[in-house]
Amino acid sequence: MKQQIRETTLEMIQGDITKAEVDVIVNAANSELIGGGGVDGAIRRAGGDEIEQACAEIRRREGGCPTGEAVITPGGNLHANYVIHTVGPVWQGGSSGEAELLASCYKESLRLAVDNNIQSIAFPSISTGIYGYPTEKAAVVALTAVKEFVIQDTIAPIVIQFVLFDEATHTCYLDALLTVF
Ligand code: APR
Repeated sequence: MKQQIRETTLEMIQGDITKAEVDVIVNAANSELIGGGGVDGAIRRAGGDEIEQACAEIRRREGGCPTGEAVITPGGNLHANYVIHTVGPVWQGGSSGEAELLASCYKESLRLAVDNNIQSIAFPSISTGIYGYPTEKAAVVALTAVKEFVIQDTIAPIVIQFVLFDEATHTCYLDALLTVF
């Protein structure tokens, strides 16, 4: 399903983000930038050593990536030229600033993408796996953040994909699309 936000195209796709044919793939990473399971493991396996080495370098230089922020590395063997690693919040019940931190992940990733002249970007559903954020809530936060970013920052037109792994997550994002737009 597609949605226009001004000149920017938002697409909802069910599938494997490592196969996305976009300029940059977003990774749901951890603050240490040390490979985990979930989408992080899948992206690192598909991308190979170049991603590992770039993450190690950021760890040495900056100590990692705080929750709600984002860093960029090359895409290694992926079709994508870059990977943006962002760190979502761990769900703690909803009153520990989780929504603000999750919105920040999407906005900081888009900021980095735009600053690097990227034309197309694919997001997974950040925080809704190992970090336990309820998917229906996360989907509304994610799409609201993207909408606000595109409208407020008057960016050049880009393609923004959400690549959702399983059917239940895909359905949540389609429902959220109707709520948010
Ligand atoms: N493509 C798209 N989405 C995927 C893929 C894939 N190949 N593999 C998993 N996912 C989905 C999951 O189904 C889930 O909906 O990504 C979403 C996010 O789940 P996680 O990867 O568990 O991410 P998160 O909840 O943010 O937890 C981050 O997990 O892997 C570790 O290092 C990572 O510690 C960090 C934590």
